[in-house]
Amino acid sequence: MENDGGCASGMYAFLVINGPNINMLGVREPDIYGTQNYDALVALVEQTARAGGFRADCFQSNHEGAIVDAIQGAYGVYDGIVINPAAYTHTSVAILDALKAVGLPFVEVHISQVDCREDFRRVSYIRRDAAAFITGRGIGGYRDALLFLCDLLAERRAEKL
Ligand code: DQA
Repeated sequence: MENDGGCASGMYAFLVINGPNINMLGVREPDIYGTQNYDALVALVEQTARAGGFRADCFQSNHEGAIVDAIQGAYGVYDGIVINPAAYTHTSVAILDALKAVGLPFVEVHISQVDCREDFRRVSYIRRDAAAFITGRGIGGYRDALLFLCDLLAERRAEKL
């Protein structure tokens, strides 16, 4: 949970949530999603957390309800969420409602450039409530999202002082 200490002092904890088919990275449409697999994504998150002095845990599921459960479970445990709901981005009111229910700052991440693909991928049920939206940076987007959340929380804490 958020408390005293900066990004570099190991105080923040973030949950990185990935939706359906993100476990197929590396195999799945490499021209769109790149050749790095899900393990590389997790390794990048862990490396970013180590370097930044915070904690980041990864969760992936192909099931909407499991993602809702993970978001609910973040309440009182994590300071923020990085989420790539994958295809559920474009369909899921349940994921939006869960994110609003827990009220944690979250960043929406997409590996591909969703706004330059099919029209249906331009729709995001969660974007309006996201603290930031990162698209088309490959798995590097997760690192950027974590660092963004760190800065955001540090700013909020500074404002309270
Ligand atoms: C995605 C984009 C979605 O449209 C797609 O359904 C995904 C991955 C991305 O990371 O680029 O599964 O969220």
